[in-house]
Amino acid sequence: MLKFKCVPDYQAMSAAGAEIIYQAAASKLSQGQPFNLGLATGNTMLELYRILAEMFNRNRLDLTRLQTWNLDEYALDEHTAVPPSHPLSYWKYMHENLFDRLLPERNFREAQAHFPDPAAPADFDRALAAAGGLDLQLLGIGFNGHIAFNEPMPPESISATAFAALPTRVIALAERTIAANAVLTANGSRYLVPRYAATMGMQQILSARQTLLLACFAEQQEPLTRMLQDRVPTPALPASFLLSHPDFQLIYTADKINLKNLL
Ligand code: F6R
Repeated sequence: MLKFKCVPDYQAMSAAGAEIIYQAAASKLSQGQPFNLGLATGNTMLELYRILAEMFNRNRLDLTRLQTWNLDEYALDEHTAVPPSHPLSYWKYMHENLFDRLLPERNFREAQAHFPDPAAPADFDRALAAAGGLDLQLLGIGFNGHIAFNEPMPPESISATAFAALPTRVIALAERTIAANAVLTANGSRYLVPRYAATMGMQQILSARQTLLLACFAEQQEPLTRMLQDRVPTPALPASFLLSHPDFQLIYTADKINLKNLL
């Protein structure tokens, strides 16, 4: 069931997204219950993480029982994650934008943050299942409609059911993703963008109890429009599977994206 919220701009989207995550996390953590939060990287989330860290700190939430599960990490080859010192490392991104901003007395420790490891992707799924699955998964959308690094696949090559069941694994990045990420995150330098990544599976994402997709770039209008026009889950558009999720919310910005006739 789709819920959507149209907000004026990036700042409003970031505040609305942070508020949803904070409320969901606080409702569990303040009762001493565990909370499994799925995290995304990328330009969409930069300001959201600044606000979220500020909320956790200001409201003195005890994060002892928070565990975070990142959607993906770049890999140098099919088995080796980029080192934390790599300029595009998602480990580094998460530390700079969220984890290092949390005050020590919030009790969030390194061991509570999980990233899929290209050397052993199935371990991530086992650990996540043992922890009880995701309470909330935060998502951005690629310009080609990918979620995490689940890249579009020709529907002739895989059924929708098999695509939705894909586990956490290593993938070769689509050319379009390499080109987009070179421009957006590497000053246009294609050689800096790794060719592989470990990505959370569609299965783990779609099993989250709550999914939250944020969109704020003009290039995202095209995949969102296709998703909302057709309303059929297809491997050609990985984000389309979210429409069948029981608790799916989309927040998008009116200054860059127009979905008026589709929602
Ligand atoms: C990031 C991720 C990607 C991004 C998407 C949008 O962890 O899994 O799917 O969410 O590519 O990226 P930005 O926000 O940079 O436009």
